[in-house]
Amino acid sequence: MKKAKGELKKAKLILDKDYQIGKVNRRLFGSFIEHLGRAVYEGIYEPDHPQADRDGFRKDVIELVKELNVPIVRYPGGNFVSGYNWEDGIGPRERRPKKLDLAWHSTETNQIGINEFVEWAKKVNSEVMLSINLGTRGIDDARNIVEYCNHPSGSYWSDLRRSHGYQQPHNIKVWCLGNEMDGPWQIGHKTAYEYGRIANEAAKVMKWVDPSIEVVAAGSSGWHIPTFGEWESTVLDLAYENIDYVSLHAYYGNQENDTPNFVAKSLDMENFIRSVISACDYVKGKKHSSKTINLSFDEWNVWFHSHEEDKKVEPWSVAPHLLEDIYDFEDALLVGSMLITLLRHADRIKIAALAQLVNVIAPIMTVKGGKSWKQTIFYPFKHASNYGRGTVLNAIVDSPKYNSKDFSDIPVLDSTAVFEEESGNITIFAVNRDQKNDLLLEGDLRGFDGKYKIAEHIIMQNDDPKASNTENNPDNVVPQTKKIKDMIVKDGKFSLLIPKFSWNVIKIERIFE
Ligand code: AHR
Repeated sequence: MKKAKGELKKAKLILDKDYQIGKVNRRLFGSFIEHLGRAVYEGIYEPDHPQADRDGFRKDVIELVKELNVPIVRYPGGNFVSGYNWEDGIGPRERRPKKLDLAWHSTETNQIGINEFVEWAKKVNSEVMLSINLGTRGIDDARNIVEYCNHPSGSYWSDLRRSHGYQQPHNIKVWCLGNEMDGPWQIGHKTAYEYGRIANEAAKVMKWVDPSIEVVAAGSSGWHIPTFGEWESTVLDLAYENIDYVSLHAYYGNQENDTPNFVAKSLDMENFIRSVISACDYVKGKKHSSKTINLSFDEWNVWFHSHEEDKKVEPWSVAPHLLEDIYDFEDALLVGSMLITLLRHADRIKIAALAQLVNVIAPIMTVKGGKSWKQTIFYPFKHASNYGRGTVLNAIVDSPKYNSKDFSDIPVLDSTAVFEEESGNITIFAVNRDQKNDLLLEGDLRGFDGKYKIAEHIIMQNDDPKASNTENNPDNVVPQTKKIKDMIVKDGKFSLLIPKFSWNVIKIERIFE
């Protein structure tokens, strides 16, 4: 990243109203709550907490989730679901069994189950994306759970739900057919053929119970797993007509403490997405099908800080401190770039879930009996979720580039933009990956009629990549909003300074005179 002394580095961003990638599905900003660690117990649910509502849910957490604006929440796992009997979590609480959770070596009290979770989701204005157990269970369980949740009445399972106090069906629309079934760590791990067959049969009967549902087949648990590709093509081949989405999962870490390489890891995510789209379209072509399978990126985040701590956790504890990564500033930048990457594929990624939401690799942390606070990654997610609605434009970015250990030609400026047809407003999201140099962004808005002004520039910047928020210093890393007065876009052109190593949201408003 060399530049002549005194010279400001420049990047160009061209946005044309007619060059569109696709409409953002609101489900792109979903998240995930697993029965894992303190996500449920001490996270969303803590009946003895001073801020608990009458159902035992923490009101402070509800407010933070609402601030994030999360339209869909995946539940109850994750690895947990592959050993879960959902019937353990319904009916009178005092009769619910305590069970060993073999996925996380914890004890599950079952005090929260599907019904309570659906109630919680309503409080945070989210829909539930429910995973079923295809590890220890199968087709019978799959049809029963849909009947329990979605059938109005007049059958054994629907009437059982009503007897539990839920007269109206939950109408859960999105269902995950198991979780990471390609992974040897999964309870009931399967070959692609075994999984493709059971996923197809489960999807078929689930849709016979409720034809309005959409189902997600478990894709590879990661791009680098040896069965990747073969897994997708086999599963899609066996289940194509009955599934709607295929899932992707990706987690990144900076174990090597190589920041320039770490903040470029969204390029790996980009290649992963492209490969899964290719696999879906390969099977589509092979079958001469008119149906397109879309993507559900239902687990993504940074995850590595807690790996060592987790080895020390006492087995079979209830709600242990597991996967409690404390995120730093560079993590927030990578999360920003991952959000930009998801937006760039809005035409095919219709669902995504930041994994996870509370306490477990999460933007929101809680203290038992105490306060809740926001991690660094809270902010880029909040910005993208609140302002990234509309149509994603095919942004042409001409940026200086650099190389790192794993990547070459990494654009210093990572950027995309969303256009809102109704208001005419544009929002640009941008990451400057350069730790040393500010960038002069030269914007070019083409095909946008009318007058525009730069209304707001939100910047999250820190010279210390390792700066983080903590329970005692929760506002150490927060974004600042630069109010911009009267910066009119002249002849479609504008320039703005993008500070070194920063996350940016630039709001461009249409002026009606
Ligand atoms: O999100 C944590 C875990 O990561 C999930 O349980 C599993 O699906 C993935 O491996």
